[in-house]
Amino acid sequence: MDSTDPRLRDSSPRSQIVHNKARREKPSEYPDRYPVPDDKVPWNCEFPGYRPPYYVSPIVLANDCSKNPNGWADPEDIVLLPLIPKESFAGVLSQDKAGRPLNPQGRTGVSGRGLLGKWGPNFAADPIITRINKESGLMEMLAIQRKDNGQWAIPGGMVDKGEEVSRTLSRELQEETGVVLPMDQGRMVYQGYVDDPRNTDHAWMETTAKHLHLSGELSERMNLQAGDDAQAVRWLPLTQESMLGLYASHCALIIKTLSGMVHNNPFALSVKELETMANLLDTVENERNSCS
Ligand code: BGC
Repeated sequence: MDSTDPRLRDSSPRSQIVHNKARREKPSEYPDRYPVPDDKVPWNCEFPGYRPPYYVSPIVLANDCSKNPNGWADPEDIVLLPLIPKESFAGVLSQDKAGRPLNPQGRTGVSGRGLLGKWGPNFAADPIITRINKESGLMEMLAIQRKDNGQWAIPGGMVDKGEEVSRTLSRELQEETGVVLPMDQGRMVYQGYVDDPRNTDHAWMETTAKHLHLSGELSERMNLQAGDDAQAVRWLPLTQESMLGLYASHCALIIKTLSGMVHNNPFALSVKELETMANLLDTVENERNSCS
């Protein structure tokens, strides 16, 4: 790529995924989170008054696999768990005095598992599919509108027990959008902790996000069909507004995807297309920084 624009040469990561939603947001059924100030987030900072409410959803309890043979959730009694997770994509995990794995990003203001079935990491997979719209010249992503909250999102989902993550990526993509693509050939964008409103001190989301960029022609031949957890599916133009409105940490994942395209130009995009993306990344990141 031949350009004098320094943003197109910068190889530093554009976005760090930080733990804010897991302290400031929650599903409606959760009790209020115990307030955790920024300097008290790390477990190694003393916080003697810390008394987070304990919450585990009745849905998770009904799926306790030590009581329900078809249940998808770990036993509520951690002693019955055959293997306590000792590490995850986030690294080596610490445990509290009761032997429960501790959130690698620190305190969240809620203990227990909330709506998450597994003690420790709960694994998801996010297939990121992009194209450039020939008419508008805008970068677009294949997005679903979630039934649970109406937000636009990457068509991701949970990794099933024993499932290879590349299989989950293709399966979820097909179930949510009707599109069949070889996600094992996707470019790895991110693998690690996700700042998700469901996270607690003892259970949290981690994801693997892989990216495929499609030619306009191929994408036009695809027949989009919303399924499962989606109320709609579309090619969503990536603008400041649409990116900032994405579900959970999906804005950060899309920032990483676009940054990778801008810095390495793996899809031989034109300088004009790269500059448009770099401008978009700047405005989105400025807005995110001014909100946090
Ligand atoms: C969603 C994924 C998301 C993950 C973490 C899952 O329920 O399907 O798209 O990345 O949660 O927020």
